Amino acid sequence: MAVAASRRDFLRSVGVAGGAGVLYSTMGALGLAPVPDARAEAYRPPSPGDFTLTGRAAKKVLILGAGVAGLATAYELGKAGYDCHILEAKDRPGGRNWTVRGGTTETDLDGRTQRATFSDGEYLNAGPARLPQSHVSLDYCRELGVELQVFTNQNANAYIHHANVPGALAGQSVRWRTAKADVYGYVSELLAKATDQGALDAELTADDKERLLSFLRNFGAIGGRADGWSYTGTSRRGYSVEPGAGLEAGTVLGSVPAMSDVISSGIGTRFSFEFGYDQAMLMFQPVGGMDAIPRALAEAIGRRRVSYGAEVTAVTDRADGAEVTWRDGRGRVRTETADFVVAAIPPMVMARVRHNLGADVTAALRYATPTPVGKIGLEYRRRWWEEDERLYGGITNTDLDLSTIWYPSHGFHGRRGTVVGYYNFGENALAYSRLPHEERLARALDRGVRIHGEKYRSELARSFSVAWHRTPFIEAGWVGWPSQTGPEYRLLNEPAGHVYFAGDWLSHAIAWQHGAFTSARKVVTEIHERVLSA
Ligand code: ALA
Repeated sequence: MAVAASRRDFLRSVGVAGGAGVLYSTMGALGLAPVPDARAEAYRPPSPGDFTLTGRAAKKVLILGAGVAGLATAYELGKAGYDCHILEAKDRPGGRNWTVRGGTTETDLDGRTQRATFSDGEYLNAGPARLPQSHVSLDYCRELGVELQVFTNQNANAYIHHANVPGALAGQSVRWRTAKADVYGYVSELLAKATDQGALDAELTADDKERLLSFLRNFGAIGGRADGWSYTGTSRRGYSVEPGAGLEAGTVLGSVPAMSDVISSGIGTRFSFEFGYDQAMLMFQPVGGMDAIPRALAEAIGRRRVSYGAEVTAVTDRADGAEVTWRDGRGRVRTETADFVVAAIPPMVMARVRHNLGADVTAALRYATPTPVGKIGLEYRRRWWEEDERLYGGITNTDLDLSTIWYPSHGFHGRRGTVVGYYNFGENALAYSRLPHEERLARALDRGVRIHGEKYRSELARSFSVAWHRTPFIEAGWVGWPSQTGPEYRLLNEPAGHVYFAGDWLSHAIAWQHGAFTSARKVVTEIHERVLSA
């Protein structure tokens, strides 16, 4: 009581001296109130008043690409009355934000055409599929009225399946909850033993040792000193017989694998994924498909402002603006001039467009490294993962070449459901992309059967796969930079005359729509400041 009272007095005096803001952050430092999380830089879109008040006319901007960065650029500039025109090579908005439904057709760079035949209501988010709470993408969903639902990124009931490891767990499908119980348990046992045997005496006071031991007993659910701190398994592993009514106490899942098997399996290496800042639960997805975001943006921008089937062939910077040449859907060559151009297409694609922006720009664009990424959607006749395995959303991780299997976070207990049968990148994505779709499917099913059994094949209804690095006008799942502090990245973050570059690839949130949105905002701000100061 005395401590609480004096703390309250202290807080009151801080509040009087420094106001509520200081009070709040002091409380945060004392662990009494949440400190607000980081937010994206404050952003004020250009407003029509900026022009009417200064007597200027709004400027014309040509935007290359109707991906999220291009759309966001037109959307924000449009708020102030800029005259924007987007040139998009594909026949739809969104770029990598692409939701595949029944009827979707795509021909890849190898000339292979797929036509999706998913049932009504079933879909594959072929590109982005999860939104963290911190991302400005959520602010756009709010502003545009895009309804959200929870996306389950971690599920204790999903599996870890490591085949290529030594020991008894090789080739087993271990539930995340069981893996965590065993890994936390054995690590706690080891650390408790080391602590109690004096191995950490140089690091810890006697009191801290006792506190650490008590933490480890709690964290790993291990025995006490009398039990040699040993981990023997608890209900955290799950049950083979569920607890129920009356005398049914349940049967805890056994048998506990040996410590050596748990360590050699490497299952513990999966846990850090959810510690990642932008992969932690809760996460979100738009109801009905991720493409609700680009569709809402395109709608807000206005149909006549986006030209589809427009393949840009040349960009020329001029003394007082810039000129773009493209081939329209009918093969006609067209040229348009504008005050500014925003190139919001992938860097390796832009590098091949004829331009007069300088050899250093081309070199910088080529400096980005494309990442191969693949995904397959598997529509099933029955939600066996829910019915048979009590698995409602979430992701299974495996060292098999599919890397991950995603169970849908929506439509629970529905008649059908669509699983992501692989989402992989690098060598694994390359291996699948070399095959025609039917062989990709056969390979994915072969791996999936090892995790889920024969129903993984026998219940399948339809499928569709994407290899982003073999997709026209996109050519990668995302890009990486050998360095984001070197001259190449800096150069592309500056305008080349009247030509600006935008995209997630020019952000520190690569492979996230947040990166595309924030990059677009940066370019919009720079263009508007330039216009107002001219
Ligand atoms: N942002 C991408 C993902 O969440 C890479 O998988």
